[in-house]
Amino acid sequence: MILIVDDDSSILLSLRTLLRREGYEAATASSPAEAIDFVRVTKPELVLMDMNYSRATDGAEGLELLRALKIFCPHTPIILMTAWGSIDLAVGGMRAGAFDFLTKPWDRRILLERVATALKLADNTESTKAASFNRSAIIGSDPALLRALELAERVAPTDASVLITGESGTGKELIAEAVHRNSRRADKAFVKVNLGGVPQTLFESEMFGYRKGAFTGAVADRTGRFEAADGGTIFLDEIGELDAPSQVKMLRVLQEQSFEPLGSSVTRHVDVRVVCATNANLPKMVAEHSFREDLYYRINLVEIKIPPLRERASDIGVLARHFASAPQFGNVEIDDDAVAFLRALPFPGNIRELKNLVERAILVSGKNLLSAADFKPLANTTPIVDGNTLEQMERRRIEQALADADGNISRAAAALGLSRPALYRRLEKYGLQ
Ligand SMILES: Nc1ncnc2c1ncn2[C@@H]1O[C@H](COP(=O)(O)OP(=O)(O)OP(=O)(O)O)[C@@H](O)[C@H]1O
Ligand SMILES: [Mg+2]
Repeated sequence: MILIVDDDSSILLSLRTLLRREGYEAATASSPAEAIDFVRVTKPELVLMDMNYSRATDGAEGLELLRALKIFCPHTPIILMTAWGSIDLAVGGMRAGAFDFLTKPWDRRILLERVATALKLADNTESTKAASFNRSAIIGSDPALLRALELAERVAPTDASVLITGESGTGKELIAEAVHRNSRRADKAFVKVNLGGVPQTLFESEMFGYRKGAFTGAVADRTGRFEAADGGTIFLDEIGELDAPSQVKMLRVLQEQSFEPLGSSVTRHVDVRVVCATNANLPKMVAEHSFREDLYYRINLVEIKIPPLRERASDIGVLARHFASAPQFGNVEIDDDAVAFLRALPFPGNIRELKNLVERAILVSGKNLLSAADFKPLANTTPIVDGNTLEQMERRRIEQALADADGNISRAAAALGLSRPALYRRLEKYGLQ
């Protein structure tokens, strides 16, 4: 499949006709946005693209599109189409990774030759790549999960910043690790920082380190997290938790890949790939000015959305059986009725909750084969789970209280020991209702 991108519909039509007559499959997109939507779903074998779109004639939109295409389909050759006399633009495009360029109006014979060459020389490593993407501990084959994994696979070998979003317990950390493991940085450090756990006052010393004597108690030099991640990947978990002053400091280090340790005037340079995760609604926070827009764009060149478990229910069986088969439980089995029962549960805590439920069912029942009856008494009372932050527990407790009160705010607030306004504030904070 060859994708043609141009905002001139007559060009789209004539190119498509020409290519189809030669026996190629061809699709068209009339804007960069349309092209991106296309490659999200389908990987073309070749892209023919115009450099100028509605906004201007400086090729900036074309370059932007080219860079985005390089992320979504890094192995697809891209042929640029530029107007006569805009050689600088073509050169810029080649530097940004285009395979070739043609000037408009094109000579049909030359165009077809270039297309044939590009297809012949195209990197055929893609299929082997797909097989070699190491998904390691990530279980499941629901299409909703596979879509996220495919994007992770495409983006992993690049240095693009990745934002992983999804509800609590959906496996964001696993995906972050997989992105690192499948990158050229795999043998370097993967440094995880939970920003929800770093108080503002410690932000700089934690992230950038300090020199001995920088403050009372700094009895020796300390390496910060960015330096520890040099050459590798830094995983900034709960990025939505950063307060305003820390956001400024984070933006600077991400933009410049440099910082000064506390108590030092010497700038350190690092080469760090950034992967962030959040279960917060960052676009909403940007709109409300509680998260900097420039930082938001800096961290999410590519967003990987991890679907909640209820949207990939077909994986509940294999996941439950995977957790039950852990050696420490002695390979416990789960029957089909139990799986059917589990598949009907909402799992607000997603995979972490499922794992916890399976483990408790094993411990409580003491059986080697679990049936639905072993899960039923436990299902409504999933307790607070290790590894959850206070906020996640709070959110879950509020959801539970609301469900118990059939959505009645006054009763839910009373049950939680909160005033109605206090409950409303939390509902808004967690994006509930
Ligand atoms: N697809 C999966 N296969 C196997 N285990 C999984 C999968 N997804 C998640 N898990 C397990 O579920 C638990 C939660 O996953 P993880 O910590 O990555 O979630 P998270 O999205 O980072 O959650 P939070 O937002 O609460 O930090 C972990 O024990 C993880 O190993
Ligand atoms: Mg996590």
